[in-house]
Amino acid sequence: TRILVLHGPNLNLLGTREPAIYGALTLADIEARLVEQAQARGATLTSFQSNHEGVLVDRIQQARLDGTEFIVINPAAFTHTSVAIRDAFAAVALPFIEVHLSNVHKREPFRHHSYLSDLAVGVIAGLGADGYEAAVRFALDH
Ligand code: DQA
Repeated sequence: TRILVLHGPNLNLLGTREPAIYGALTLADIEARLVEQAQARGATLTSFQSNHEGVLVDRIQQARLDGTEFIVINPAAFTHTSVAIRDAFAAVALPFIEVHLSNVHKREPFRHHSYLSDLAVGVIAGLGADGYEAAVRFALDH
């Protein structure tokens, strides 16, 4: 299995960014855990973070050509704003899970809507870094 994990804007600051909401783990910590989890199952996992919407669109388009079979994405703020990222997922037609560290539904109303959720296989929110692990486990099992 080839799994791509995508992280949206400001997630490069994990560990120092509002730790009460997003946890103490850094993005490198999370990525290392996921790589280990995939390797233990004989799968390949690649991670990519960008603060730029178009760069994420490019990476999603590339996923159709590079053998990616499943995407796990925390689109961060682009969840609530990006028709372009939605359209990219529709275009590549690859299965994906949307992950949020925080429970967006108990936060500000503008975080309650996602442009991606209805295209996703599933959505995980509020489980912190464990949410990524659950998403990767699902991808490995399916
Ligand atoms: C987030 C939730 C988003 O609303 C926010 O903009 C983020 C992170 C999360 O992981 O909880 O940057 O996707």
